[in-house]
Amino acid sequence: MTAQVIDGKAFAAKIRGRVAEHVARLKADHGITPGLAVVLVGEDPASSVYVRSKGKQTLEAGMNSYEHKLPAETSEESLLALVKRLNDDPAVHGILVQLPLPKHLNSDLVINSIDPAKDVDGFHVSNVGLLGTGQKAMVPCTPLGCLLLLRDLHGSLAGMDAVVIGRSNIVGKPMAQLLLGDSATVTIAHSKTKDLPEVVRRADIVVAAVGRARMVPGDWIKPGATVIDVGINRTAGENGKDVLVGDVDYASAAQVAGAITPVPGGVGPMTIACLLANTVTACCRANG
Ligand code: GUN
Repeated sequence: MTAQVIDGKAFAAKIRGRVAEHVARLKADHGITPGLAVVLVGEDPASSVYVRSKGKQTLEAGMNSYEHKLPAETSEESLLALVKRLNDDPAVHGILVQLPLPKHLNSDLVINSIDPAKDVDGFHVSNVGLLGTGQKAMVPCTPLGCLLLLRDLHGSLAGMDAVVIGRSNIVGKPMAQLLLGDSATVTIAHSKTKDLPEVVRRADIVVAAVGRARMVPGDWIKPGATVIDVGINRTAGENGKDVLVGDVDYASAAQVAGAITPVPGGVGPMTIACLLANTVTACCRANG
């Protein structure tokens, strides 16, 4: 059996199209243009690529993009002052502080200084609590993108066995909450999980979000299961050039799975599409 390849790139393009239509209506009917502010501290190459891509797609959707690039040695005080300015700016509907921050900055403190209504990442403790209790929250973009792909494929996820590998605040934990919210039976596996292969073999849905290249081989996958690969790992390819690979060994998993996301072109494009959608949501809520 060869798995259906889940086309996240095409799905994300559809979402961006819908966002652009919504933005055009907000402008035409209400004279409002949603605005997204992205803050990057330092020059981490991967983060710089993401931030550029976010800015470009924000503009393409017809929204305003405000990029704030600060030097790596920026003090916590001045970063908090910038966040406060953005919180108070009515033209800014969404605020994203790119992670990871340099080590001398307290990420929790910075993230929790963002107005929860503008927290389009869904990382503020208020949004984490709202999501965990099934209330209206800003939902983290990568897990939201994964959920949309799963709903598109399966319709209802009720009663399905889902295993999330990885327990990060950005992906693993909110992913588990979203799957639970859709009535899946959820296991969160991590580095201390006993007999991980056996745990994964029980799953109808596997979400891999650990950040280790090809750590999930095909023989861990139940035949016909759906595999969502959140990993984006740079590793040396056969010709010596760097290649991007996921947390799942795609070649072997695609022989067993029912459906699988490729890397690149699976979950990745969904993250920014959901960020744009969250920004429009924040703008609509701010304007009643
Ligand atoms: N770094 C990696 N992923 C993300 C994300 O989704 N949001 C932010 N702010 N930083 C990240």
